Amino acid sequence: MTQVDDISPKTLEKLRTARRVMALTGAGVSAESGIPTFRGADGAGFWGRYDPHDLASRAGYEGNPQRGWAWYAMRRAQLRSVEPNPAHYALARLGAYYPDFTLVTQNVDGLHERAGSRDVVELHGNLDHVKCLMEDAPVAYKEPADAPAITEEMMERGEWPEVPRCPGCGGLLRPDVVWFGEMLPAIAFARAEVAAQDCQICFVVGTSAEVYPAASLPETARRHGALIVEVNPEATDLSRWADLSLRGPAGVVLPALAEMIAGHV
Ligand code: OAD
Repeated sequence: MTQVDDISPKTLEKLRTARRVMALTGAGVSAESGIPTFRGADGAGFWGRYDPHDLASRAGYEGNPQRGWAWYAMRRAQLRSVEPNPAHYALARLGAYYPDFTLVTQNVDGLHERAGSRDVVELHGNLDHVKCLMEDAPVAYKEPADAPAITEEMMERGEWPEVPRCPGCGGLLRPDVVWFGEMLPAIAFARAEVAAQDCQICFVVGTSAEVYPAASLPETARRHGALIVEVNPEATDLSRWADLSLRGPAGVVLPALAEMIAGHV
């Protein structure tokens, strides 16, 4: 475990002079924006309060589409009142600093883009996109302006809106996010793999690194010789073999790190 100030001059030099860099982010990078993680301490994460089978699997959605649609509508509503935090901005800064930077996220909240990161590789989809449950094809959908903002209380009371239907086939719509048991979007994962194989530095920020195949990316990067830098307030399985484990909230650690790296020029 290291603090930013304890980074050795040799490692700092590597961080400053690298050209090909990737970052893999997870729910923890958005925690300081007020979005719950999935596996939070003391059951505070989404999966401590909701059953992932019900809400993040095809069988669960098909068993109760209204509940499933409502939960994603609730998360979209939560997004309307949050802003990117200093961690998102620090990653955008690093993206502008390195000549070849690939930001790969497991998050579906779009906050990296809102903070100015470009070309973000979204491994698990995006809450703003929907597709047809039957045809699996993207559907242009805009939430009606008068749609009520779904709250956790409404979820609990079972006040779920009707699920909109596909204009093409009449089938139910679903969020275009990756559920357990589903493949990741092929192009996104291929881009992430190339970045993992090529990078000299791999930042791993705010992820429990438990969900595969996303969690395989830092392993790939390491096998190909990259320096692995983890940023997380808690130890994870990855902490044991990361070259640098910076233990703290991303919104504090990353701006300090970005300043050390990009602020010297
Ligand atoms: P998790 O909820 O599994 O892990 C969040 C991580 O963020 C934990 O390791 C926390 O210690 C860390 N964390 C919390 N606060 C932080 C902070 N302020 N700064 C930095 N780190 C912080 O979330 P993910 O690893 O993203 O998939 O989960 C991976 C996937 O599992 C998600 O994309 C989602 C979920 O099921 C799907 O929905 C398909």
